[in-house]
Amino acid sequence: YGGTYRLFEQVLVQYGIKFAYADIRNPQEFETLITENTKALFIESPTNPLMQKADIKAFGELAKKKNLLLIVDNTFYTPLLQQPINDGAHIVIHSAT
Ligand SMILES: Cc1ncc(COP(=O)(O)O)c(C=O)c1O
Repeated sequence: YGGTYRLFEQVLVQYGIKFAYADIRNPQEFETLITENTKALFIESPTNPLMQKADIKAFGELAKKKNLLLIVDNTFYTPLLQQPINDGAHIVIHSAT
């Protein structure tokens, strides 16, 4: 979601937080970007606007293996269709607009 990208790159970078990006359909690609400074994985599924889906369980396992927070933007499926906490997420967010 473009608003999330702008939040990361225009606001949060000012606090010294760095971001790296990978294809949501490929958790292995995320794994290659993890460094000793990495604190969290942030994913959105399905994505806005391309409606690409992530394997949230695979991200949950990766987060556990690397001792990272997994944050999931669950806006499009809503809790009716997808409950990321059950798949290993630590924080779930939804659009409030
Ligand atoms: C996937 C996703 N996340 C977040 C948002 C924005 O949420 P808010 O406006 O509540 O910050 C949107 C808005 O369209 C969205 O589609």
